[in-house]
Amino acid sequence: MSGHPSASLRLPEAVSGLYGAGAVAELVGLRRALHADPELSLQEERTCARLQRTLDELGVEGVARVAGTGVVGRIPGRDRKAPPVAVRGDIDALPIQEDTGLPFASRNEGVMHACGHDVHASWTVAAARLLRDDPAAGDVLIVLQPAEETGEGATAVLSTGVLDDVAAIFGAHVDLTFEIGQAMIQPGAVGAAADRFEVELRGKGAHGARPHQGLDPIVGAAQVVSALQTVVSRRMPPDQPAVVTVGAIEAGTAHNVIPDRAVLKGTMRSLDPAIRKSLADEVRHVAESVAAACRLEARVRMLQGTPAVLNDRRAAAWASDAAATVIGAESVKPLPVANMGGEDFAFYLERIPGCFIRVGARHPGDPVVGAHTPYFAPAEEAIFVGGALLAAAARRASAELAGWRGPKPR
Ligand code: NI
Repeated sequence: MSGHPSASLRLPEAVSGLYGAGAVAELVGLRRALHADPELSLQEERTCARLQRTLDELGVEGVARVAGTGVVGRIPGRDRKAPPVAVRGDIDALPIQEDTGLPFASRNEGVMHACGHDVHASWTVAAARLLRDDPAAGDVLIVLQPAEETGEGATAVLSTGVLDDVAAIFGAHVDLTFEIGQAMIQPGAVGAAADRFEVELRGKGAHGARPHQGLDPIVGAAQVVSALQTVVSRRMPPDQPAVVTVGAIEAGTAHNVIPDRAVLKGTMRSLDPAIRKSLADEVRHVAESVAAACRLEARVRMLQGTPAVLNDRRAAAWASDAAATVIGAESVKPLPVANMGGEDFAFYLERIPGCFIRVGARHPGDPVVGAHTPYFAPAEEAIFVGGALLAAAARRASAELAGWRGPKPR
């Protein structure tokens, strides 16, 4: 294997036996090909074609496009009357200029797999391979989903009906907070509702030297930003995670001109549905009230995004038990802090019991590099851990749902 890109991989012993040398090289090759040719949400044409070809070559049944640029296929189970389960990986990239210096870095200007969806697509293919070689009780649907980053893909897949019969669903995300060989699995919230707000403050323009002749939306915007800091600190219960962030302010054109409007854009994150509603209510109330005190008109728009990612209790227990058989119980843990990131897997979990796993993707000693940055580079060993965890979770869930007795499958 010397000379091949996969030769330097340090696979955890527990998973290295599951994949032949040929499979390891193919999966690393797939990941690097996807990484070098990233495509934005709902434009994943070449990605989709490559993944479709790959699943066809693996002998996956009924491989077809779904939801525009997604792919779905079916791996027959041992008992075709058992309820099917699904494994989902996302496939889209981000509008970021890559700066990792990797030999297989993005060739596409301004587009990068900066969230690891190239790894997710590859570990979903890895899971398909493992499930083909050692099938679950029932069928397993393989779903390669487009447009996770825009929050559109999961609902698009659900609306096609391909998951209507599915009794459990599993997905995962690389996480560089954790090392290779670790997995974070727990029931309940593992990702936040991610809603947006926009506040337009309308005042009256004036000369910068004569502010009393106008109604200054910039001073109003500054006060709204400050007052919004009290929404979480004064209005939310202290044991409930919540975030309000203003990420953009647009106003003004020159140092001596008071503009007539200012626009604030922000995000609200929460884990609990009641907190989600009160965040939106309080942000609106603060923006409108502070604007009124400044004699400004506030137009507040709330844009609902993905809901919180809520793992089903039983599905999380199955995934956790299955993961323990693969990487050892000591490597399977709950999240150490609440994850306030959003993920459109949440939409599946509203309809289908399931579990979303966070998979360690950093070599010991390496720095933690955040997703959605130009330097994001998950360790490729994660492909093989993620594939093994997803296949094991699918087998375990399938066996439980089919009512199989006897030793639990890996
Ligand atoms: Ni992501």
